[in-house]
Amino acid sequence: MASIAAPCQAKMETFGVESLDLQYVDQGWGSPQTNKSLAGNTIAIGGQKFEHGFGTHAVSTLRIDLNGSAERFTAAVGVDDEVGQKGGSVNFRLIGDGKILWESGVMRSGNPAKMADVELHGVKRLVLNVGDGGDGSSWDHADWADAKIVMSAGRPKALGPPPESVVVLTPKPSSGPRINGAKIFGVRPGSPFLFAISASGNRPMTFAGDHLPDGLSLDPLTGRITGKFEKKGVHIVTLTAKNAFGTAKQSLKIVCGDTIALTPPLGWNSWNCFGRDVTDANVRAAADAMVASGLIDHGWTYINIDDCWQGGRDTNGNILSSDKFPDMKALTDYVHGKGLKIGIYSSPGPQTCAHYEGSHHHEEQDARRYAEWGFDYLKYDWCSYDQIAPSPDHDQMMKPYQVMCAALNSVQRDIVFSFCQYGMGNVWEWGAQIGGNCWRTSGDITDTWASMSVNGFRLAGLEKFAGPGHWNDPDMLVVGYVGWSAKVRPTRLLPNEQYTHISLWCLLCSPLLIGCDMTKLDEFTLSLLTNDEVLAVNQDPLGRQAMRIVKEGELEIWAKDLEDGSKAIGLFNRGEEKTKMTAKWSDLGLTGSQKVRDLWRQKDMGTFNGKFQASVPRHGVILIKLSPR
Ligand code: GLA
Repeated sequence: MASIAAPCQAKMETFGVESLDLQYVDQGWGSPQTNKSLAGNTIAIGGQKFEHGFGTHAVSTLRIDLNGSAERFTAAVGVDDEVGQKGGSVNFRLIGDGKILWESGVMRSGNPAKMADVELHGVKRLVLNVGDGGDGSSWDHADWADAKIVMSAGRPKALGPPPESVVVLTPKPSSGPRINGAKIFGVRPGSPFLFAISASGNRPMTFAGDHLPDGLSLDPLTGRITGKFEKKGVHIVTLTAKNAFGTAKQSLKIVCGDTIALTPPLGWNSWNCFGRDVTDANVRAAADAMVASGLIDHGWTYINIDDCWQGGRDTNGNILSSDKFPDMKALTDYVHGKGLKIGIYSSPGPQTCAHYEGSHHHEEQDARRYAEWGFDYLKYDWCSYDQIAPSPDHDQMMKPYQVMCAALNSVQRDIVFSFCQYGMGNVWEWGAQIGGNCWRTSGDITDTWASMSVNGFRLAGLEKFAGPGHWNDPDMLVVGYVGWSAKVRPTRLLPNEQYTHISLWCLLCSPLLIGCDMTKLDEFTLSLLTNDEVLAVNQDPLGRQAMRIVKEGELEIWAKDLEDGSKAIGLFNRGEEKTKMTAKWSDLGLTGSQKVRDLWRQKDMGTFNGKFQASVPRHGVILIKLSPR
């Protein structure tokens, strides 16, 4: 620690930022590295090496308490040279007590370091923030090199997020029956049909359906509709659920044609919880929990196995499951037996991301095998296709997905096709044309505010590419117990961040794939996943993705048109302080008075003229529905 004498004779002390408690850095990927780059190398920017500082990944935030005793901040910042040709662009900001004190502008890999030198006299709280340069955060390895704070008294202290209490907003479902889930369902002619009516309310409950197409039948005790039929067209069925407390009716539009996934898939995937350690037992336990927790009564349907189930191929080239999955057919039967559906994972390359057997040159054989086993969903992950097409042009990017799509179309089973190639080549512009039911729009999500919020909010402007049968996918949910391994832990997202996560994913019509250990669902997590009015925004039959209507700094208002002529509106505060926000009818294309309903609380707020104002917590949301009076 160096000491310098200041003109006022106060004894100045200089602190390297790397000496603070960096566990409080919230960043988009990986963890902060003391005196190293994100990948653990010597910090290097534009050819210049630095011994001190810290490496992070955009979007990154470190909040520092200065106690009003700081004098100056200095640093050299930039994208670390370890990124090389892969790209990476970031923007650094220093924020003091809510005001921007310094900005680097967009910096790209290879750019020389920029020097920040900022007066801090009187500033109480300093935020070191790295943005994604406006183009997503892939390869955004950012360095705060030689970052120093000069103090006239005391020491700077890294701050954790302000404490938040866990507040359950979702009211308990009533005893009477309520039919939830999709109101429109697509099936291809002749494909095996399975649609389980999702209904909350006390059991026992009985079910009925009027005007079912010939070939389908409904089990009155389970509410499952099964069978098959060939007749293309729209069939309107009236579903009924009845218990000791009453009767609920709901119409279901069955559309027999070429398109499936007419609403975004709702389900679970093994990756964000168990990662490589997934087993048959985990998958069965997830299916059991989907039923026992009641999630199945709110529309949740798919149980998806991610990577690491494969066991090589037999002498005829047929894909085998590993010892961890001793009998795939028995597993799919088990899951279907509960009225749920089941998904599987592969890669178009020779290997998957976790280096298991991929589908390269075996696409038709694999599609046939998935159908024989009884799978209903395929996530198809680019990964080692890099070996086949190292710098793919547009056609090369599409090709492996076209090949698998043709293979899936050649089997008589409806298999939702999920592209996973992290948004390469603006996949949203062409994913639907080549048979994608959904496509990832970014890299892998993790359970930090930075990662979740960047993945979600970057869908602004992509609304025109989503619609029934083809959805943008900002990646799976990170609520509940996650861990990407056999060892799971609670999500690091704070409660308000979790409300933002679910609200945003619902507004975005994103597939909702729960990424947590389903055997460890706590009351709060369950409340996030069983709010029928919030889920109805995601499952709305119109299938219109929300648009960002207002962006003022860290405050954003998103609006989604709903089938009944109303609008779902999210008031999001991405900033660090609780803030009052105003949704103006003029911004939303509305006039006159509107009924406002708070969707999380399922509560009418009254009738409002011209605008609606609410105080929105740090990283939080107010989700409302506006309907004409
Ligand atoms: C990639 C995907 C993840 C997961 C892993 C499995 O990283 O983006 O969602 O499927 O591969 O290896």
